[in-house]
Amino acid sequence: MAHKRKEMATILCQRLLAPGIYDCTLETALAKEAEPGQFIAVYPKDKSMLLPRPISICEADGRRETLRIVYRVAGAGTAEFSNWKEGEKIWILGVLGNGFPWKDVREGQTALLMGGGIGIPPILELAKRVAGPKKIVLGYRDGDCFLRNDLEKYGDVILATEDGSVGSRGNVLDAVWENGLDGDVIFACGPMPMLRAVKGFAAREGIRAYISLEERMACGVGACLGCVCRTKDVDAHSHVHSARICTDGPVFEAQEVDI
Ligand SMILES: Cc1cc2nc3c(=O)[nH]c(=O)nc-3n(C[C@H](O)[C@H](O)[C@H](O)COP(=O)(O)OP(=O)(O)OC[C@H]3O[C@@H](n4cnc5c(N)ncnc54)[C@H](O)[C@@H]3O)c2cc1C
Ligand code: FES
Repeated sequence: MAHKRKEMATILCQRLLAPGIYDCTLETALAKEAEPGQFIAVYPKDKSMLLPRPISICEADGRRETLRIVYRVAGAGTAEFSNWKEGEKIWILGVLGNGFPWKDVREGQTALLMGGGIGIPPILELAKRVAGPKKIVLGYRDGDCFLRNDLEKYGDVILATEDGSVGSRGNVLDAVWENGLDGDVIFACGPMPMLRAVKGFAAREGIRAYISLEERMACGVGACLGCVCRTKDVDAHSHVHSARICTDGPVFEAQEVDI
């Protein structure tokens, strides 16, 4: 695996995708190394914000050297990003994290891909890479189903919305029950209550599941321990039941982590 490095990237385009959600394409050589489920750390220009903000890779085109990111304005850092203009230069660190083990899906297996809210963007690059049949379950707050059209190119898309305006009412698991979906391996990214439900479902059904924990992060490179989570197994180096989400994750086998 290539070493992470700080690079200057160029904004190629940015647009509003849904209320408060931005879709941005960056030009960067890091695109050649990016795997689905990995992320970049984006530095705000405002020097009162020291830490870079982790944002998942939504799409990566190694040939064109472009990365697509999709993010929700959550606070000061992402609010600054929403003002990026075409041609602007920004600093990013990447590529970070382990990514989804998409090559583990064997021939003849069906993958169940689940994304909730702002956990949906990394599911797009994953859907492109996973071979074979895919069921893609997406959960939204309401009928603003961003990235739905992009994902429909790569598999059967099943929807859930919290307000019940489109698809099943509830979260992705409600759509899974209502549609009697199953699969051989699950990949999921979304809010913690959704990931807990995915973990329980996978355990009951005996399905291998990989979940991406997009928890709060600080340094993003394993130095501050600001992102640790409890694990079933003891870490070989530190001998503790914990893992750093930023470097050991953000993707974990669901039954290996306490969430
Ligand atoms: C691996 C990973 C991938 C992510 N991918 C995406 C994505 O693709 N799209 C998207 O919209 N959001 C994503 N997030 C969440 C995103 O990083 C936060 O929304 C963002 O850092 C908020 O920064 P802010 O300055 O706008 O908000 P503030 O709340 O002002 O941030 C203050 C500090 O807390 C940290 N922080 C706040 N919320 C989060 C959070 N949810 N996760 C991690 N750190 C946080 C910030 O990095 C910053 O250091 C991801 C988070 C992680 C850990
Ligand atoms: S964010 Fe600093 S160790 Fe993970």
